[in-house]
Amino acid sequence: MTILADMTAVPGDGTDWIDCGTLDDLPLRGARVIRHQGGSIALFRPAEGPPAAIANACPHKGGPLADGLVHGRAVTCPLHGRVFSLDDGRAAAPDRDCVARYPVTVSAEGRVLVRLRPLSPAAPAGAGLIAEAAE
Ligand code: FES
Repeated sequence: MTILADMTAVPGDGTDWIDCGTLDDLPLRGARVIRHQGGSIALFRPAEGPPAAIANACPHKGGPLADGLVHGRAVTCPLHGRVFSLDDGRAAAPDRDCVARYPVTVSAEGRVLVRLRPLSPAAPAGAGLIAEAAE
């Protein structure tokens, strides 16, 4: 596991976006880790689509997702094989766990920026379908 940034001892600079370098600084189909006061974020560069960031701890037993196998827009936990979407953080069926996602953007200068504040928690798998059916 390669640590890209360690924010645990660095007070905020007034923004919660951190510069994680350029896309070329991220290994293709790999990840880098951003440690921060709230935990650890895995920043992935999948072969398809833009980079994505999720919590680095698998909700099952804490497996380091940054060490997982990246395939398509998903990662397989290295400990017991649960698969999580990099787009919505949800585990593939039959599992129903989800991991926190973090906003990622690429600046006009080509810098990859990650916000340390997570997006709203992903709903459990299937919850969206229930909500849609209720409308
Ligand atoms: S710790 Fe990730 S599947 Fe068990």
